[in-house]
Amino acid sequence: MAERDPPRLRAVRQSLPHDSAEAHVAGGAVYVDDMPEPPGMLHLAFGQSAHAAATIVAMDLSPVRAAPGVIAVFARDDIPGTNSVGPVFDDDKLFAEDAVYCGGQALFLVAATSPTAARRAAKLARIDYEVASPLVTIAAARAAGSVLEDAQHMTRGDADAALDAAQYRITGSLEIGGQDHFYLEGQIAIATPGEGGTIHILSSTQHPSEIQHIVAKLLKLTHADVTVEVRRMGGAFGGKESQASLFAAACALVAAKTGRPAKFRVDRDDDMVMTGKRHDFTADYDVGFDSNGRIEGIRLELASRCGATDDLSRAINDRAMFHADNCYHLPAVAIVSHRLKTNTVSNTAFRGFGGPQGMLAIERVIDAIADAVGRDPLEVRRINLYGPGRDVTPYHMQVTDNIAPELIEALAASSRYAERAAEVAAWNASHRIIKKGIALTPVKFGISFTTTHLNQAGALVLVYADGSIQLNHGGTEMGQGLYIKVAQIVADVFAVPVECVRITATTTGKVPNTSATAASSGADLNGIAAQRAAETIRDRLAALAGELHGCAADTVRFTSEGVRAGEALVPFHDLCRQAHLARVSLASTGFYATPDIAYDRKTHSGRPFYYFAYGASVSEVAIDTLTGEHKVLAVDILHDVGRSLNPAIDLGQIEGGFVQGMGWLTTEELVFDDAGRLRTHAPSTYKIPTASDRPARMEIALWDGRNVEPTVHRSKAVGEPPLMLPISVFSALTRAVAAAAPGKGLPALDAPATPERILRAIGELRARAPTSAAL
Ligand code: MTE
Ligand code: MOS
Repeated sequence: MAERDPPRLRAVRQSLPHDSAEAHVAGGAVYVDDMPEPPGMLHLAFGQSAHAAATIVAMDLSPVRAAPGVIAVFARDDIPGTNSVGPVFDDDKLFAEDAVYCGGQALFLVAATSPTAARRAAKLARIDYEVASPLVTIAAARAAGSVLEDAQHMTRGDADAALDAAQYRITGSLEIGGQDHFYLEGQIAIATPGEGGTIHILSSTQHPSEIQHIVAKLLKLTHADVTVEVRRMGGAFGGKESQASLFAAACALVAAKTGRPAKFRVDRDDDMVMTGKRHDFTADYDVGFDSNGRIEGIRLELASRCGATDDLSRAINDRAMFHADNCYHLPAVAIVSHRLKTNTVSNTAFRGFGGPQGMLAIERVIDAIADAVGRDPLEVRRINLYGPGRDVTPYHMQVTDNIAPELIEALAASSRYAERAAEVAAWNASHRIIKKGIALTPVKFGISFTTTHLNQAGALVLVYADGSIQLNHGGTEMGQGLYIKVAQIVADVFAVPVECVRITATTTGKVPNTSATAASSGADLNGIAAQRAAETIRDRLAALAGELHGCAADTVRFTSEGVRAGEALVPFHDLCRQAHLARVSLASTGFYATPDIAYDRKTHSGRPFYYFAYGASVSEVAIDTLTGEHKVLAVDILHDVGRSLNPAIDLGQIEGGFVQGMGWLTTEELVFDDAGRLRTHAPSTYKIPTASDRPARMEIALWDGRNVEPTVHRSKAVGEPPLMLPISVFSALTRAVAAAAPGKGLPALDAPATPERILRAIGELRARAPTSAAL
């Protein structure tokens, strides 16, 4: 292996801007909707169900067919293959079969000469339904026994015995709301028919391979017949991991049937109605602890609204169980997870993938214990952390990279937590209307797909005779900075500036059988695959340079001045030209599969994660006890990304993840009515954080450390973990509400902590009989 001369300017660990940063703001970044439209392009709209649960008795589409601009109308009998767009199971339908399972479900598809013509025509169908009463809520589905799969159990030790033996024991529950992805670029796809029945699809998707497979199955084609390409998404956040396929499949069907290109740009309201969201949860706990608040036994029951179909709900609910320990050792634990099937749109991946819900549950348990023993919650957090001899998770994995204790102490010191907690208490003692709260909460997030076989990636690196490099890998770019990170890794192998690497669109035509870009593992997986591809080429070049200059290949050095071989210093591009003349291949694939992970889903035990990413945050909030409004006053974050591949990108992920998580826990509220209709399907009724909600003071620091596992350049994944940092906002809000009625215990504040909920929690708390603060 060729080594490199230290020191030199390296492409990795530099704070390089996102490769499309300028193009994003100047309009040069091309999204699917910016692609030139070929003549004859058809535009699509679904006919959608007016009811959440119904049987279709009759469907007359003749008025739709007769509408102006309509070229074709398709329903389920027009599908040559399988009527499914499901990622794991075939229960997600492109078009409803006889039974409708959720409101807004696609019943048929209109292809017309313009989007407006398609949308207008879709409303003209005459449909007779036999309407049933829908199961909408978690409680209703639980009462009816409507589940996607049997309740899952994760256990270690004897929780019931520990609960019985514990000195103190409390029970409680928490409701946790869902979340809409609210990506700026909505769902969209274009399908173009090719020669001999082949098809080319542009899709805003995190998972091009899955769309390829679904379209092949739908149209009875082979995988090789279908090519799916994505240059970038305007945000995805998990919402395009499985749910882009509905629209891509519709385009593919129309292209195959009509021989014309077809485009589906989904209207924002339809997008919000027709695509799944973060699962909402209820969490019920029964916890036993000692007088210091150290947990001895816990029984935690999680229940989630999965919606009408499986989608990714099993894995998402598994991840909720995996994160119901967060950073804490639970000596005897029983976690039960109920996966409820409802007549609502199928919930799906969303940044954190169930982890945030499990983590919020245990953080509420800690707050409840702190309240019960009358101690500062941070003290209770500290004594429950994993540590020596207390390092096995509920899924029987040993935590070997635990930095939570040190990281928490470092943040507590840098944020002046103790002094500020005293200041907050003093403020509350002397102010009647505005109450404050402060909280420090940690994050430990498991990195890897818990479905083990998904932890693989491929790459294709092409070096041209002029020394320029084309980089392809299976990962997709959704704004998170994956492309620039992998380009930095490849540039580093050749010791060339990152500008020499041309980043290309992700396509199933170059790298096959890829996993979704998800589980935060994009750079971990694709980074090493691309590094290996580049190293193969570099080693060939080194061998050639050795031959040409009479030295051993392993003494050849790739440096920022050029390639050193013996006495010679050859510019990289000259060596590439020489390689071409010497008939040396300058193209290579690379492949990576995460080592050492294995997980048995039957017993919910094993090592599902390669490592953990850690972080912690301190949030200080104020609430107005008359209106329920709140403000996040200050946030301090210390977050672990191992040795950062690109600190600027990582800081952006941390800040964005924090604000998105804050929205989930405070303002973003999804409302379904009794008929199962989503009433919050536009920005007029669904409130994401705005620039003015960003805390006035937001200090973000990167933990100075490296991954103990040999990840690429010892970095750690960053995409999802920061979303859970703002649990400190929720915890601080809970404390601020508690301060509105001291001595009454922990308020029953559910998430999201909207003004209505905060007011209700204050009212409920004030109406309580006083409890003794300490046990
Ligand atoms: N950042 C931006 N800007 N846009 C996104 O859509 N998705 C998040 C996260 N950060 C997202 C994002 C989610 S859900 C995941 S899983 C990761 O990015 C995926 O990318 P990675 O594996 O390359 O981190
Ligand atoms: Mo992210 S929820 O794993 O796409």
